[in-house]
Amino acid sequence: IDHFGFNSVKTFNQRYLIANEYWKKDGGSILFYTGNEGDIVWFCNNTGFMWDVAQELKAMLVFAEHRYYGESLPFGKNSFKDSRHLNYLTSEQALADFAELIRHLQETIPGVKNQPVIAIGGSYGGMLAAWFRMKYPHMVVGALAASAPIWQFEDLVPCGVFMKIVTSDFKRSGPYCSETIRKSWNVINQLSTTSRGLQYLTEVLHLCTPLTPRDVQHLKDWIAETWVNLAMVDYPYPSSFLQPLPAWPIKVVCQYLKNPNVSDSLMIQNIFQALNIYYNYSGEAQCLNVSTTTTSNLGSLGWSYQACTEIVMPFCTNGIDDMFEPHAWNLKEFSDECFKQWGVRPSPSWITTMYGGKNINSHTNIVFSNGELDPWSGGGVTEDLTDTLVAFTISEGAHHLDLRASNALDPISVQLARTLETKHVKNWIRDFYRSGLQH
Ligand SMILES: *[C@@H]1O[C@H](CO)[C@@H](O)[C@H](O)[C@H]1NC(C)=O
Ligand SMILES: *[C@@H]1O[C@H](CO)[C@@H](O)[C@H](O)[C@H]1NC(C)=O
Ligand SMILES: *[C@@H]1O[C@H](CO)[C@@H](O)[C@H](O)[C@H]1NC(C)=O
Repeated sequence: IDHFGFNSVKTFNQRYLIANEYWKKDGGSILFYTGNEGDIVWFCNNTGFMWDVAQELKAMLVFAEHRYYGESLPFGKNSFKDSRHLNYLTSEQALADFAELIRHLQETIPGVKNQPVIAIGGSYGGMLAAWFRMKYPHMVVGALAASAPIWQFEDLVPCGVFMKIVTSDFKRSGPYCSETIRKSWNVINQLSTTSRGLQYLTEVLHLCTPLTPRDVQHLKDWIAETWVNLAMVDYPYPSSFLQPLPAWPIKVVCQYLKNPNVSDSLMIQNIFQALNIYYNYSGEAQCLNVSTTTTSNLGSLGWSYQACTEIVMPFCTNGIDDMFEPHAWNLKEFSDECFKQWGVRPSPSWITTMYGGKNINSHTNIVFSNGELDPWSGGGVTEDLTDTLVAFTISEGAHHLDLRASNALDPISVQLARTLETKHVKNWIRDFYRSGLQH
């Protein structure tokens, strides 16, 4: 009996996408994208790798939407109403949905039953792909977990590693770039002490709404998140994942951030030019809105709830190893925020309890890939754990670059990673057919 007093199983509609253009009933395979915190169509359109290998693997492609995202809303528009309605939003439930969907496909599409299924995902979806193989090894023969920070929990990795990687991306992309950003926070703080300064910030940064003393921290958080997002999507060609951007966007941004020693007013003008690359590359922005940093395809409400319950990732900065204002990880403060917003408190050790933390070597057939430019690589598996839990790092890769469609501007490092990933997937498929494990 659940909190609503129902004593029977309630159902909801889960959206999934299928492409079977290259699927062969004879010797084929099923590539199953374990959907993450957003609209599945958008993930589908940004996971060209699966389309690129479909023919070679004679694969059917399946993209499963995660519950509470996109159109897969268990309680329709009431899904985010309160913690009672959100109570069914967990990674475990999402994995169970994937298992149910695979059963459904096996039972309804002739030929699926006798084929190997491979889980594929990126970011949180990569974590789900890895966890799916761990918890449902009878459902999938292996998993490709791209940019999956399965260790960004508790103290499995230092809390500062994420922002340190963001900083090194800016450092390598232009002279004095990270130093300029490090200095900019104080300039904002100084200007924020007077109403003339606040007005200057509003005007020069082209903010949609006038800055008040209460919004200053929010403004700085928004700017910091912009630098973080740029680090995630620092791709070698023009792309449009979180926002439309030029090739190597951090290099472009850093052209405006070359000098930490300029006057306060010039510093703010330069920061604006840099932000404008991220928010106005299309030339369509009327003003800069400090309430948004990414595409609305990402489900920020659902994610905020998940971060407040299971997916508790400690982050911190010290202003020395990174270019941000110092901020210690404070679980109490975080928990109070969660309680204020959702009426729930986080369980910071649950993910490790549930999925094993670093104690996962008894599992098999998972490929972990990480880009060295990607801040999430700090919480990822970047070295082989066993013969069948293997890791690839992509030296010029940002956030799951390997899952994107191949591009003429791809660096060799990502081409190589894709080749090795495909080789592992083919081996799992071969082993499946050799073992006679078909149903
Ligand atoms: C900025 O000023 C500091 C202190 O005067 C100096 O050490 C540094 O070289 C200057 N940086 C640039 C890029 O001019
Ligand atoms: C965005 O770019 C367009 C074209 O360059 C420009 O007219 C507009 O003012 C810019 N928006 C902002 C917020 O600066
Ligand atoms: C800023 O973004 C928020 C959240 O997406 C939206 O509700 C609001 O209307 C936007 N404000 C302006 C002035 O565009």
